[in-house]
Amino acid sequence: MSTRGRLEGKTAIITGAGSGLGLASAVRFAEEGASVAVVDLDLAAAEAVADKLTALGARAFALRVDVTSGAACDDMVAQTIGRFGHVDVLFSNAGITGNGSADDITEDHWDRVIAVNLKSVWLCAKAVLPHMIERRSGSIINQASMAALIGINGIFPYTAAKGGVTAMTKQMAVTYGPDNIRVNAICPGTVPGPFVYKSRAERGDAPVDGNEEIKNNEIAQRFPLRRLGKPEDIANMAVYLASDESNWTTGGIFAVDGGRSAA
Ligand SMILES: NC(=O)c1ccc[n+]([C@@H]2O[C@H](COP(=O)([O-])OP(=O)(O)OC[C@H]3O[C@@H](n4cnc5c(N)ncnc54)[C@H](O)[C@@H]3O)[C@@H](O)[C@H]2O)c1
Repeated sequence: MSTRGRLEGKTAIITGAGSGLGLASAVRFAEEGASVAVVDLDLAAAEAVADKLTALGARAFALRVDVTSGAACDDMVAQTIGRFGHVDVLFSNAGITGNGSADDITEDHWDRVIAVNLKSVWLCAKAVLPHMIERRSGSIINQASMAALIGINGIFPYTAAKGGVTAMTKQMAVTYGPDNIRVNAICPGTVPGPFVYKSRAERGDAPVDGNEEIKNNEIAQRFPLRRLGKPEDIANMAVYLASDESNWTTGGIFAVDGGRSAA
């Protein structure tokens, strides 16, 4: 590893790191010199990512955690401290799709989407905060969504959860700023991958000919930069928020969406 990485000496927990944006972030964190706890519900996926990071020369290990369980989140933090000695960065990224409208979803669906996309962000923060407060140092990054910034049809419970994430981010930034703990949120626009294709299929919005790429190109025309996101676009913002380059930045809600929410 380079000795000049932007995250050299830092340790990070990344949830939902077995796929998509979390995976890309784990790789970027490792490239910048961080040690990474690769956390996911899917242990095999997390292990494959941890192996990849190790091959890059980083310290990494995989953990199966259901982030909707407070006890599991506590164990995640304890295990990471056990392996790395301390935790500098928590990137709460795990999430699931949350389709439907206010008039047609069930209470069970609402509860599940809120548990995975909103409650988990609190539980992960709750687990790591005592350690960060004691060290008077830490960066918490919460994965929200463009859906927290603009109304998007057909994803009602997801929108409620992600709006909660941005509100919670500001509240925690205010509460823990005096402890030198920074809390910021990223609001990604559409980044094609399993998450987006699953969401489309669930909404009955998958392309009839199965050609997701043509659909992606059509949707990209609504974005000022005329392209959809790449996982690395989000990972690069996460690296910045994890690094000391952002050490006067807290309570920020960062759109990384090709300008979509500004349009
Ligand atoms: N892809 C996009 O366009 C997009 C846009 C805006 C926001 N986001 C957000 O970014 C995050 C990652 O999205 P992605 O596209 O990489 O999704 P993804 O489905 O590729 O990856 C999500 C990962 O989270 C894990 N996960 C799900 N439930 C979990 C649980 N209870 N405990 C632990 N891990 C769990 C999954 O196993 C999976 O590996 C999500 O929070 C999502 O809402 C994605």
